[in-house]
Amino acid sequence: MSEGSQFREHSLEVGRRVYIETYGCQMNLADTELLLGQFRRCGYEPVRDPAMADVILLNTCAIREHAEERVVGRLGDLYRYKARRPDLQLGIVGCMAQHVRDRLLERLPFVDFVVGPDAYRRLPEVLQESGRDPYIDVRLDRSETYADLEPHREAGVRAWVTIMRGCNKFCTFCVVPFVRGRERSVPAGVVLRQVQQLAEQGFREVVYLGQTVNAYHDGEVDFATLLRRTNEVPGLLRIRFTSPHPADMSEATLEAMATCAKVCPQVHLPVQSGSDHVLHRMARGYTVEQYLRLVEKLRNVRSDMALSTDIIVGFPGETEQDFEATLRLLREVKFDQAFMFQYSARSGTKAARWPETVSPEEKLRRLREVIALQEAIAHERNQAWVGKRVEVLVEGPARKKAGWTAGKTPQFKTCVFPAPQPPVPGSVVTVAVREANSHTLFGELAA
Ligand code: 5AD
Ligand code: SF4
Repeated sequence: MSEGSQFREHSLEVGRRVYIETYGCQMNLADTELLLGQFRRCGYEPVRDPAMADVILLNTCAIREHAEERVVGRLGDLYRYKARRPDLQLGIVGCMAQHVRDRLLERLPFVDFVVGPDAYRRLPEVLQESGRDPYIDVRLDRSETYADLEPHREAGVRAWVTIMRGCNKFCTFCVVPFVRGRERSVPAGVVLRQVQQLAEQGFREVVYLGQTVNAYHDGEVDFATLLRRTNEVPGLLRIRFTSPHPADMSEATLEAMATCAKVCPQVHLPVQSGSDHVLHRMARGYTVEQYLRLVEKLRNVRSDMALSTDIIVGFPGETEQDFEATLRLLREVKFDQAFMFQYSARSGTKAARWPETVSPEEKLRRLREVIALQEAIAHERNQAWVGKRVEVLVEGPARKKAGWTAGKTPQFKTCVFPAPQPPVPGSVVTVAVREANSHTLFGELAA
C-alpha cells in the first residue's frame, strides 16, 4: 500500500472534505449542488475553505475565452494547497473540462481529474478509489439527466431546479452543444416531486433551468403543461425559468404564463443581435421582426412584464450598420436588463472558422456603447416604478445598507427598504417605491 492511499484511508475515517468553486451560469451552480449531494452521500463534508479540503473542484465555464483564463489563473493559486499536501486531489469539472481536456492536462499537469458535465454520477467514489494517475471522464451521455440524484441545497427562499440539459440549437458562436451535448429533459413527475418537497422545506420560489428551458419535453409533458402543474404546488409562491429560446416560445407557453398566477412577469430572452444579417449567420432561427412580435405577445400576456436579454457585439461580419441595428433594437424594446459581451471565438464552433472582421479595439468600443445605452434604458425603466407599490419576496438583510432588508419584486428587481424589525425571509411584503437607479428599487414598507 502506498503512503498516499494510507493517508487517504486514514482521512476517510475522520471524514473527507470537499471544496467546490463555481464559475459561469446558473446551470453550473445547480450542478455544484448536485455534486455536493453526491459527495455527501459518499461521506464527504462540504467546506468553504480550500485549505480544509481533501478534494478541491473547480466547476468551470467555457462560454467565452475570458471564463477559461480565469479558471487557469485560479488553478495556479490553488496549486499551493497541493504543493503543501500532495495527497490533496485537485480537479476540473464542467464545461471547460469537456472543451479543452487535452490542452488542460498539458498546461496544468498537476491536475488530478478532469470530468465533464455528464460524468458526475460516480465522481466521489472514483476519487476515493483512485490511485496516482489523473482520472479523466469526458464522455457525453445522451440520456444522463441525474433525475434520481438529490442535490444538496442550502436552505433559502429560491431554489434552482434543472429540468433539461444540453442544447440542440448549434448557434454558430456557441460551445454549449459541444460541451453539454444534446437536449434531454427530466421526467415531469420527478420535477414536480422535487418542487413539492422544496415547498415543504420552505422554499417559496423555483427557477427552472435549462439551456433552452422552454424546449422542455419529457416525451409526454411539454413546458406549458409543466408550468401549469407547477402552479398547483401548495406553498410555492413564484415560478421563473431561464433561459428560454425565442424560437421555442410556443403559444401554449404564452397561454400558460398568462393563466398561471405564480409564473412571474419576467423573462430573460436572449436576442444576441438586432440585425437579420447577423442573426442569420448566428443561426438563431428568428428574424428581428419575429423577435419583436414575440416581445409584443409577452407584453400582452402581462403589461408589467420585465424583459432582459443577452447581446453579442463584434460577431464575425458584423458591420457598423449591423451594430447600429442592435442599438435600435435596444431602444425599441427597452429591456429592463441586458448582459452584453464581446464575441470571442470558441474552438469547435462554426464561427471560429470564419475570419474575425471586427478588431479588438472596435469590439470594445461597440461594447462600451451598448452598455452605456442599456444603462440609461434600465434607469428609465426603473424610474417607472417610483411612486408605485410592489410585492417583495423577502430574502434577508440588504448587502450594502445596514438595517435594510432586500428582496425581489415579481419582475426580479432587487428592492431594498429599511426595516427595524426585519420581516422573515420567505414572507411577502408590500413596499412603496420611493427611488430607483438602474439596478435597484429603494422604498419603504407600506402600511
Ligand atoms: N462569444 C461571446 N458571447 C457568447 N455567448 C455565448 N457564446 C459566446 C461567444 N462565443 C453569450 C451569448 C449567450 C450568453 C450566455 O453568452 O450572449 O446568450
Ligand atoms: Fe448556445 Fe444557442 Fe444553445 Fe443558447 S441556444 S446554448 S446560445 S447553442
